[in-house]
Amino acid sequence: MTEQNLSPQTRLVAGGRPAHRDLAPVNPPISMSSTFRQIGPTDLNSYARFTNPSWDGLEQVVSDLEGAELPGLLFASGMAAVAAVQDLVPVGSIILLPKHTYMASVSMAKRLEARGIATVVRLDIENTESVIAELEKAAATAGVSPENVNYAAPKVLLWMESPTNPMMEVADLPAILGAARKLGIVSAVDNTFATPLGQNPLLLGADVVVHSATKAIAGHSDVLLGITVTSNPVLREAMHTHRTTNGAIAGPFEAWLGLRGVRTMGVRLERSADSALQLAQRLSEHPSIKAVRYPGLPTDPGYERASAQMQTFGSILSVTLDATAEETDRLVAALKLWTPATSLGGVESLIERRRRHGSEPHSIPESLLRLSVGIENVDDLYQDLVAALDNLR
Ligand SMILES: Cc1ncc(COP(=O)(O)O)c(C=O)c1O
Repeated sequence: MTEQNLSPQTRLVAGGRPAHRDLAPVNPPISMSSTFRQIGPTDLNSYARFTNPSWDGLEQVVSDLEGAELPGLLFASGMAAVAAVQDLVPVGSIILLPKHTYMASVSMAKRLEARGIATVVRLDIENTESVIAELEKAAATAGVSPENVNYAAPKVLLWMESPTNPMMEVADLPAILGAARKLGIVSAVDNTFATPLGQNPLLLGADVVVHSATKAIAGHSDVLLGITVTSNPVLREAMHTHRTTNGAIAGPFEAWLGLRGVRTMGVRLERSADSALQLAQRLSEHPSIKAVRYPGLPTDPGYERASAQMQTFGSILSVTLDATAEETDRLVAALKLWTPATSLGGVESLIERRRRHGSEPHSIPESLLRLSVGIENVDDLYQDLVAALDNLR
């Protein structure tokens, strides 16, 4: 049986371990060293900003799960990984982003715009036709085509997220990524919400996948990490140079925590996704709830697309209350089991009213709550929410 014949749930446990030999450690050791003995006089890369064996296991596991042909690149945080992609664009470039997407990824693109490097275009990713029309316009404006695409310095970069943070909109990824490739547009997908077990954008036509490994990959809300994965050697080299030059590298202990965490992602996600669906179903029926978005809910507008491109629907849902911002804040404060905190993808359930962040767009309802479902008992989670909902007014 080749590694490829093993299921993803097995590969994430079996991958990235030391070679089989007598008395080999079962887990890769942590390399607490800032430099390594050089391979020979021509070796200039054996410094711990360039490489650290502590990164290898997690880089291998995530790359394997994403179906990439090259090892991933680990970073100090999800945003360091996002920067390694967005910073590649040259002066005069265009970055296309969903109108709802992780706000710091938008801020980063807007900073590039403010510095005169890029123009930012926002996309309604649920409307595939309008996205493709914007891609065509951008390709024509920048003069890119599949013949002249520069992966190390993309003149047009498509940034995608599906499901989106926090609106849970689902894009038709094969259609959009396929159109981008045909036009010579480099595409990146932030796959943090879906996880590498839930969706594999490289196999759907993306050039690079980015994860905040802080979330479901590490899974315990105890470490910040990011990772990029690609099968394109030019793109990988450019991101590697970015990491080495800018120095946003993962610490060896953090990398070890990430690898330790990813071993249980299969069971964690199975439980969380199952509970997320149950909560989405049950909360849809509560009179104080106006809308629930979860891609695994058969009534969700994204359900068909998600079913075609996702293997599991993940642990995140959004819920919009029939309430004011103040009432929503009071509800969050009244919860006993759910922790009011930003972040997601950990074993503990977290809840957050997203519009409390000034940088979230006004098209996100004031009373929208993002729920990250952990691995607690689903009835306990539901009862905590319902007790607060029943006391809303
Ligand atoms: C979708 C998404 N991408 C990227 C990030 C940034 O990751 P980090 O906080 O690890 O820098 C986050 C963090 O919340 C996120 O939700």
